[in-house]
Order: sequence, then structure tokens, then C-alpha cells
Amino acid sequence: MFEFLMGVEFLLLLVLVGVSGATGYAANHLKYVGESESSFRLWLKAAKVGVYIGTALIMVWALDIMIIFENYGWLFIMDRVLNLLPLLSLPAAIVLIFALPNLSREANKKSLLFFIVSVHVMTVGAVLAFFLVTIDIPAIPNTKDLLIYGGALIISAGLLWLYHGRRIRILEKRLPRFSIRIIRGAVYFVLVFVVAITGLVVSQRMSEFPGRMNMVHHHTADFGGGDSSLDENTNAHHDDHDSNSDSKPISVVELKGPQTDIPDKKYVLYAETKKIRLASGETIEAWTFNGQSPGPELVANEGDLVEVRLVNKNIDSGVTIHWHGVDVPNGEDGVPGMTQDAVMPGESYTYRFVVNEEGTHWYHSHQQSSIQVQKGLFGAFIIHPSSQHETKTMDTTIVAHDWITPDGRNIPALDTADTFQRKMVNPGTPVRLRLVNAGNLTRTFSLNGVPFKVVAIDGFELNEPGTLTTSLLRIGGGGRYDVEFIMPDTAVTLAMLMEGKPIGIVYSPDGHGKQNVLDEGEVLDITKYGSPAQTPFNTSTVFDRTFTLILDQTYFGVYNGEAGQQWVINGKTFPDTPTLMVKEGDLVKTTFVNRSFADHPMHLHGHHVQVISKNGKPISGSPLVLDTVNIEPGETFEVAFLANNPGLWMDHCHNLDHAQKGMTMHVAYENVYTPFAIGSETVNSPE
Ligand code: C2O
Ligand code: CU
Repeated sequence: MFEFLMGVEFLLLLVLVGVSGATGYAANHLKYVGESESSFRLWLKAAKVGVYIGTALIMVWALDIMIIFENYGWLFIMDRVLNLLPLLSLPAAIVLIFALPNLSREANKKSLLFFIVSVHVMTVGAVLAFFLVTIDIPAIPNTKDLLIYGGALIISAGLLWLYHGRRIRILEKRLPRFSIRIIRGAVYFVLVFVVAITGLVVSQRMSEFPGRMNMVHHHTADFGGGDSSLDENTNAHHDDHDSNSDSKPISVVELKGPQTDIPDKKYVLYAETKKIRLASGETIEAWTFNGQSPGPELVANEGDLVEVRLVNKNIDSGVTIHWHGVDVPNGEDGVPGMTQDAVMPGESYTYRFVVNEEGTHWYHSHQQSSIQVQKGLFGAFIIHPSSQHETKTMDTTIVAHDWITPDGRNIPALDTADTFQRKMVNPGTPVRLRLVNAGNLTRTFSLNGVPFKVVAIDGFELNEPGTLTTSLLRIGGGGRYDVEFIMPDTAVTLAMLMEGKPIGIVYSPDGHGKQNVLDEGEVLDITKYGSPAQTPFNTSTVFDRTFTLILDQTYFGVYNGEAGQQWVINGKTFPDTPTLMVKEGDLVKTTFVNRSFADHPMHLHGHHVQVISKNGKPISGSPLVLDTVNIEPGETFEVAFLANNPGLWMDHCHNLDHAQKGMTMHVAYENVYTPFAIGSETVNSPE
């Protein structure tokens, strides 16, 4: 439904551009009819019909926008109403109310001029509106956009008035031959084409990142309605600022875990290339930790000091490790160019942090993340509650991932199993399946043959989760669900549903169970699952800062020197996306709106966010505390967090292909700066 309404909008505007172009052509012809009464009538009729069709299209567009408003809310249409509507409706109204009624053969040249100009302004309005929706989405209306596009419309009206006025005066004396007019038309066309191409090339060049740049950007600071003196010190060149805050700037390198204490858990991870074999026999040229992918499962207990030494054996582009879902100190976050430099071949880097949470998490390289995670530089990171008692639980982690073969085929798999697997489990055994989605795309899982519960999401234990039988589980990229059941004496089938054959695991008492895939059912709505409980934030919390982030797609744009379709936040790609400025102790609310046609699993580093509402309705089930919030097309999520982990934090889409194209931004604490940088003169490319 949502995609349909947005698709209709696109089509209406596209047709409107065509119709108003043709109308403009017809109106222009009125200049060339000379004394011929009949051809004047003909062209006038054509222009009138065009104006009426154009107006009708605008009205249908407005209706479409109203339906979107009714179903999805104001945030979905505010730019349409404030930026597009005036561009479309004002010129049409002028044509209909003022220009058309006064136009006749006998009327003076002025009325003809007025008519032609106003019809052409209508065309310009349609083109600008189409440009806005496809290339320069306003998202959050601001006066600058209003002035630029409104100004463009008014200036073009003025220029058209001068141009057509002069032409009409010349044509009174002498009508040019048809061939001349064709040539004129061609020249204008080429001119427009040249301007467009030049614009493209220039903006492409300008979008290229400089050789060295800071990842956190001031020019896009968004203070969320809170104290706006914060950005004074977030700059690496803080010393040339006169700060009004008395605390002195902190570098991210000072924000580290305990450096000297003896660690409770110690791991070494060697990043290296290695061929791995999938269950089907397919070979993958993988990038691995310790020769395997998924890498070794890291296991710790809540409260442990964990030390991980990363050694890069031979990954030429460098490696880092980010602890996805674990709120480590900023200096341990593993973002190249922001919290460290990428670890190059032959180098090593040691991470140390105390894990203050439990649950199913994962780790992955954040250097060229879209490539390196895809190639296999990831693994599970399981933190057990400190109070865990011994049980005979079968506790397994299953990581969904898409492998790419050397000849470019995409192979979805659970760990390295791209075929159905069989496992033996004794009846009566409590089973905990930790499902991790390390892929970019949302994955749907089903469990057949046993009642089960989703006991945790993103490592956070749900409150009184109910028993499920036929629900499908949809996990966005980067997300995790923990599922529990008691093994029955019949077979249980876990499946990952996809186009074509599903893959999965059959658990059975003898290890030979038959697969029986549940491939239909309702998707579990996690905002209505389990029972409510006391939470730090709710719909009546007063926040220090509130941010609104609208996720869109543009049909065409440029990002770091490359042209194509873009995924944008508030109409922009990095580094023009907003930097969310906070200070320690702030209560922060963020509203995400997905107006595009793809899922966007938004992941904030260093914090967990509590979901307050979905699509305007407060959540009614268990509290939900996530690190990756999957927002589907047409959805709105309000999430909140307490700013309690000072640093510079990425906040990005965990469809890493989207992040790689600029769907990324930052949360920046006041007074924190980074000495690191990204760009071609550095080794860092976090994406
Ligand atoms: Cu799992 Cu910034 O990533
Ligand atoms: Cu995305």
C-alpha cells in the first residue's frame, strides 16, 4: 500500500512534467500563428486542455498526498505540503484564475504574454517539483529550500516575461520560417542538456571526499532543539575556539577501557584470507578471523573485562573490530577514522573493555564494512548473565549471512550451511537458538513443530514473552533474536524463508528428522509481544533533545564522486547528513520515518535505544531495548536513549550497502574530538 501510494506520486509528477511540457509548447505556438484565426483557436484549445489536465493531475497528486497523510502521518508529507504544493498549485491557480479568462484573439498582446508566461511557469513548477522528489528531497522543510526553489520559480517567471515579451514584439513584424524555429528549439534543447551535464559533472566532482577529512561535521550539526553551544569543542581544531564551557576537550583516545587490570577473558583474532567450503561444496574466497567464518564465538560473563588482540595477517585494506550491540567505551568502538586507524597487514591492536550487559551480540570489521563483513570478517559475541546456573540447555548461535562465490553468485546460508542440516537433540532438552542476522537484508525465520518463545531481541531479555506457534520472525540486518523451546520427541524445523528453496536445520531425537517448513504465517510484531513493565522513558517523558530523521531514496544523486540512486537521511548523504549533538546526561528522542521502498535497520553505536512507539502507537508489549531498529517502508519509530557514553558514535543503516553509499550519520557528544580522519590520504574507510 505504502509503495503503491508513493509510486503513484512519482508517476503523477512524471506525467505532469510531460503534460505541462506539451502545454508549454502549445502555448508558445500562440506566438507564431500570425493572422490565422483557425490555428490560433487550435493552439489555444490545445493549451487549455493541457492546463486542465495538468490541474487535474495536481489535484489527484494532492489527493494521493492526503491519503498518505491519513495513513502514515504528517512527517511523510510535510515537505510535499510546504515545498512542493506551492510550486505546483500557485502557477496553476494563476493560469486558471487570471491568465485564461482574459485571453482572446482580440485581447491585447499583454494578455497573450501573461498567458504564455504563466503556462511556462507552471511547467517550471512541475519540473522543480519532480526534481525535488527524485533528486533533492527536502524531507524536513526549511526556509533555505523554500527560498531557493520559490526563488527559482519567481526568477524564471521574470526571465520568461522578458524573453517572451521581446519575442512577441519581434514576431509582430515578421514570422520566422518553420525550419528556423526547429533550429531554435534544437539550440535551446542542447543548451538545457549542456547545463544539466555540467551540473552533474560539477556536483560529482564536488561530492568527492577530500584526501583527509574529519568524520564528524559541524556544518550539519543538529541540536535537536537543545542547547546549541555544544559544537564549540567537537572540532579537532578546538584550540581556535573560545569555549564557553569550562571542561576541556577530550580526545576519543582517552575514552578507553581499563588498560592495566588483568582481563577475565582474553582472545586473539587473526584476520586472514582463507578459502572456506559451504555445506553444498561451494568454495568461497573468504576473509576470516582465525581461518574461519563466522569467526570464533567470543564468550564472556556480564561484568568481565575482555581483552581482544586483533592481528591483521594479510587483509591489505586494513581491519578493525566493532562490537555490535556491546556498549563499549568510545575508544574501543573500532571505527577506523573516528576511534582508531585501520590495522594494516603485520600490525595489531588491542581492545579492552568491561562488558556491562548480557545477551547475543556480534563483532565485525568496520573498515570497508560493506565489503569486509560480506567477505566474512564477523563472528558472534555471547555474554552470559553473571548469575547463570548450570543447565543442560543446548545453546547454539546461528548466523545468517550471504556468501558470494568467486563467479559472483549470492548464496544465503546459516553459518556455512547453504543446505538443510540435521541435528540430534534429546527430547526434553531446553534449546536456545541465538539467531544473528549478519547480512544486509531482512531475513524471515520460521520454527515448526514446537511451541516457542522469543526470549530476547538484540541481547535484551523480553518481559513475559508469550508462547508462539505459527509466527514468523523477521530480523533486520544486524539484528538478533533468541528463541527458546523444549525439545519434543518429534522433529522441529528451523527455516530461513527466501525466494526459492528455504534453508534451515531439522532438530530431531535421532538426528534423521524430516524437514517440515512452515512457510506461511503472521510476522511477529515485537511492539505488541510480551507484557509491559516499568521503563526509563515513555510517551510523556520530557526530552532534552528530539531529532527527526526521514529515510528516503533519491532516484538520482552523487555520493563521493559516484552518480546513481541514493539512500538519504533528511534528503542528504554523508557528510551532509545531520550530526546529532548531545551532552552527557541528555534524554534524547529520535523519530525515524521510512519513506523509501527498502528496509533500513538503523544502528546506533555505543548505546541501546528504547522503543517508545511504532507508527504513532505506544508499544504495548514488553519493553524493547534495541541497538538495531529495523524500519520498514511506511513505518515510523520513536526511540529514546540516555546519553551516558561520551564519544563520537556512528549511527547508520546496517544494510551495509546503504551505509557504503552514505546512509550514515553521527551522534556527537559535546567536548569530544577525534585525532583520526578518513579519506584517500588516510588508511581509513569506515563507510
Ligand atoms: Cu554493526 Cu557500525 O555496525
Ligand atoms: Cu538502509
